[in-house]
Amino acid sequence: MKKIAIAMLLAGSTLVMAADGAALFAKCAGCHGQNGEKPALGKSAVIKGLPAAKIEEDLKAYKAGTLNQHGMGALMKGQVAALSDEDIKALAEYISSLK
Ligand code: HEC
Repeated sequence: MKKIAIAMLLAGSTLVMAADGAALFAKCAGCHGQNGEKPALGKSAVIKGLPAAKIEEDLKAYKAGTLNQHGMGALMKGQVAALSDEDIKALAEYISSLK
């Protein structure tokens, strides 16, 4: 039992370390669209193709709870709360590359 738990932990941390932007974006697509082409819940800006630095800055500010552009900052805070800086960077680069 213990061994299985450790193996799962290791597998999990490998995934996190890889910080795959495309995989991380899967949970964002429901609101922002498969290609980041939708205004999320009819509120947010269209995020595809935004400069990576801007997306990274926004996501860090949502995580810190200091950004609320359309009255739904708290919702985005929940979306990014568990992401590391590496995850956020990978996501920002992926979203920025979407056409
Ligand atoms: C439940 C719907 C939902 C999900 C899931 C979601 N978002 Fe959002 N997102 C929103 C809303 C609503 C806003 C506007 C927040 C505000 O008021 O500032 C937003 C704002 C943003 C913005 C800023 C856009 C702007 O208007 O300037 C970025 C970047 C962003 N989200 C990226 C992400 C990423 C990356 C994920 C996945 C980790 C994600 N979102 C998941 C709904 C969602």
